[in-house]
Amino acid sequence: RSLLHKQLAGERIIVVSNREPYIHLKKEDRIEVNRPASGLVTAVEPVMRACSGTWIAHGSGSADRETVDRHDRVAVPPDHPEYRLRRIWLTTEEENGYYYGFANEGLWPLCHIAHVRPIFRTSDWQSYVAINQRFADAVVREADSDDPVVLVQDYHFALLPGMVRAALPKATIITFWHIPWPNPESFGICPWREELLRGMLGSTILGFHTPFHCKNFLETVDRYLETRIEHESSTISRRGNLTLVESYPISIQWPPAWEKNLPSVEQCRSEVRAALGLPVHHRIGIGVDRQDYTKGILERFRAVEKMLELHPELVGNFTLIQIAAPTRSALEDYQTFEAQVRNLAIRINQRFSRGNWQPICLKVEHHEPEQVNRYYRAADVCVVTSLHDGMNLVAKEFVAAREDERGVLVLSQFTGAAHELHESLIVNPYHIEQTADAIHRALTMPEEEQRERMHSMRMLVRDFNVYRWAGRMLLDAARIRQREKLAARIG
Ligand code: G6P
Repeated sequence: RSLLHKQLAGERIIVVSNREPYIHLKKEDRIEVNRPASGLVTAVEPVMRACSGTWIAHGSGSADRETVDRHDRVAVPPDHPEYRLRRIWLTTEEENGYYYGFANEGLWPLCHIAHVRPIFRTSDWQSYVAINQRFADAVVREADSDDPVVLVQDYHFALLPGMVRAALPKATIITFWHIPWPNPESFGICPWREELLRGMLGSTILGFHTPFHCKNFLETVDRYLETRIEHESSTISRRGNLTLVESYPISIQWPPAWEKNLPSVEQCRSEVRAALGLPVHHRIGIGVDRQDYTKGILERFRAVEKMLELHPELVGNFTLIQIAAPTRSALEDYQTFEAQVRNLAIRINQRFSRGNWQPICLKVEHHEPEQVNRYYRAADVCVVTSLHDGMNLVAKEFVAAREDERGVLVLSQFTGAAHELHESLIVNPYHIEQTADAIHRALTMPEEEQRERMHSMRMLVRDFNVYRWAGRMLLDAARIRQREKLAARIG
């Protein structure tokens, strides 16, 4: 936190994201405040608390607009305000075009290798352009100088950096792409590829989770735009604007904010088991995801099925608790996926159930972070089987929750996290037997080995926490700002 303050030297930042960090919902005669399931929010919220400033977001989850209208500029967090949340409201038509359409039916499957075909509609694109412009205008209005520091988040706003640059040429624009960046062939199918790339190159810094994503981006620009690329410094210059393309692996807050409110690991273990009617020594696996087709939930269930087939002694003695937060449910691909997940859980449960016990406990509902952390603490193994994932913060959250240095992480090789958490059991989620074997190995791992692995993963997450992520970007930005000022003076 103190590093961030030094970097900013009293400057307030402006964050732009689609997802809002708090959702105000009307429940009978009172307003309930929820935290949405989003890796982006998990990471950026503590940074914003540390820096203060304004967070501009789409008032999407705050459903009852009539009631929350007076919440379009609120100080948050509600119990202890540290920054301002400025909401932008969209009509249903705008939301369908920009968010559901172009961002989530187009860019999301374009950037993730999950073999879901992207859909590109001209009307969605037009809406995406218009909404990017509306958010860019809001940034310009919120700026209290001609060179603000703006942090642009994710694939919803690829055009916004260019738009802000046009209005505020001296702005420092840091754009972070929270999802993978595909190779040039894959990206090239997008009918508006050049426009998207030009928009992103309005940024001062363009951040990705891994060096692979940076490399893919540089190759994509090289293929489709006229620019000068300096590979040594990882910069792209286009029409007098210089963009640094760099990897900044995202992380979580350390120490985690919820830590002091949570019961001990022992208590969480017994409470979670008691609530499910399970005996104290029952083995528990935990999966926590948005219900998204990129998360490999079906592959995970099949791995559990395979494990029970191969190790009948676990029948009746192991349960996978799967928290699946409903997400983007208006889209057909998500509805289909939700039904597939439900049906597979039913089939596997019917196959193995004994008395009251079933191997998969599927909870399709929103859980607040404190509840999720109780499950992390109660589990013997956490299973992350994404088919493709920028980072995956569930892996890091599980590690942070285990102050007892027990519990094992099974982690997909196709996540950014697998490049950092080497002491997890790394799997290819498409290989069902291998994943089944890893879960079994986790459940039979000697305590000493669990402790060694968990200890070194905890040290990594502690040292490379989210303040370090933001701090590195701001430090790079500060250097560039200084250099530019100097050049302007000399020039
Ligand atoms: C991913 C994206 C975020 C998004 C989150 C939740 O982590 O990178 O931008 O906020 O999923 O998805 P949603 O569509 O509900 O915001």
